[in-house]
Amino acid sequence: MTNKFLFIANWKMFGDLKTIKTVDKVIKFSKKKENKNIKIIYCPPYTLLDGFVKITKSTKVDVGAQDSYFEKTTGPFTGSISPDMIKKLGVKYVIIGHSEKRKDGDTDKIVNKKIINALSSKLYVILCIGETIKEKNNNKTKYILRNQLNSGLKNITNIKNIIIAYEPIWSIGTGKILTNKELIDNFLFLKKYLKLKFRSKKPIIIYGGSVNNKNISDLKEINEIDGFLVGGASTNYKKFIDIMKKTIN
Ligand code: PGA
Repeated sequence: MTNKFLFIANWKMFGDLKTIKTVDKVIKFSKKKENKNIKIIYCPPYTLLDGFVKITKSTKVDVGAQDSYFEKTTGPFTGSISPDMIKKLGVKYVIIGHSEKRKDGDTDKIVNKKIINALSSKLYVILCIGETIKEKNNNKTKYILRNQLNSGLKNITNIKNIIIAYEPIWSIGTGKILTNKELIDNFLFLKKYLKLKFRSKKPIIIYGGSVNNKNISDLKEINEIDGFLVGGASTNYKKFIDIMKKTIN
């Protein structure tokens, strides 16, 4: 996949044809010599995927979808988009298991089916996992994370095309964030678990949840983090560039 530091922009249900233009600034930023060790991936809504693929063509910026259906090719599934369809557009990545999709009904079983099909369509998968505030307060975080990994990655033996995004649910869009000590502890746990279970030498784990251009100065100190999944702040190109600049410097 890549061993560059990842910045993944999750635009969620945001953006129109006009907003695509702001990405030009980020593309320009990605071309600078000092930014050669970072990888930027935009995950806009389906309506903008084609536009993003076009605007990022022949650049180092990649594109991902925010979800893909659990059937691989085509069929009578009104309102759904298959991983094959996404791949054929020129998209390389797909987010699966985001808590906002799990809230809509994606169970671990569905997440697992989606991942298997996305991988067989040759997409790189960004698997989101994370605990609720209740689970955190009951000291259940590691138990939950392990369960989500076990069921989400059932029957998958190789995770070389999978990025794990650790996103505490209570942290998404709230401005609340774990302490660095708690984050390091959870990241070390996840790394160790993935190394053991999948014999993966270097599992890729990124952090998501309220990442902004202020808390980034603390977050970047955590060596175990391989990148960031940025929601709200990524829709503003100035803030997104600021986050990247502050991480690198
Ligand atoms: P946020 O979202 O940065 O707005 O908290 C992150 C995410 O849901 O991926």
